[in-house]
Amino acid sequence: MIEEVSNFLNEIRHDFSSRPLNMESVLDNPMEQYAQWFEEAVGSQILDPKAMVLTTVNSRGVPSSRVLYARGITREGFIFYTNYNSRKAKEMEENPFVCVNIHWPELERQIRASGKIEKVKAEVSDKYFSGRPRASQIGAWASDQSDKLSSREELEKKVEEFEKKFRGRDVPRPPHWGGYFMKVDYFEFWQGRAARLHDRIVYDWNKESRTWDKHRISP
Ligand SMILES: Cc1cc2nc3c(=O)[nH]c(=O)nc-3n(C[C@H](O)[C@H](O)[C@H](O)COP(=O)(O)O)c2cc1C
Repeated sequence: MIEEVSNFLNEIRHDFSSRPLNMESVLDNPMEQYAQWFEEAVGSQILDPKAMVLTTVNSRGVPSSRVLYARGITREGFIFYTNYNSRKAKEMEENPFVCVNIHWPELERQIRASGKIEKVKAEVSDKYFSGRPRASQIGAWASDQSDKLSSREELEKKVEEFEKKFRGRDVPRPPHWGGYFMKVDYFEFWQGRAARLHDRIVYDWNKESRTWDKHRISP
């Protein structure tokens, strides 16, 4: 089985066709450019355009990645929500520098962004949490995200306990759950092109001029 899959991985070839990405056509602010591509992703009925891979690196230099949902954007970066005691949260406490990667295969597009993490204000997390479905709110209380569980039943029992605890009233935001803001200082927009001659446009935040420097890099 391993060998068959390995051969298959080696055999499949996909040529990228499409539209060019030019220095002249990209927007000056990379979050605006992300927003434009996001709208196109939504228009192309991409299944989960909010999804992005977040990579953290702990204090020993060991990386780890997982998929997350972008739940908000500003002109400076991304907002996402998670458990403040999770593996990723601990790693971001040790090292606030993170990277996200987004792949929209239907559009032959990839986005890479890196930057620095900070927690959002409690009011921002409260507002987002209050709009979540009740079952997700209970889940945030019941799940000690990334911790060991003895069984599925242990988790389901905790869900029942918190359902009982909050019966008949609003579920408050757990103190260990909330948002992060990733302030981006590097962006790369990748557009697949024929014969592997892809377009790649980079935005680098220039601290002195406080503007984005843009350039093209090799595929
Ligand atoms: C499509 C998708 C979306 C996800 N969105 C989130 C999210 O917004 N927040 C979150 O904490 N975990 C989300 N997860 C779960 C994470 O991938 C991950 O399993 C979890 O956050 C624990 O990661 P950690 O142990 O590295 O901290 C999502 C998973 C998938 C597949």
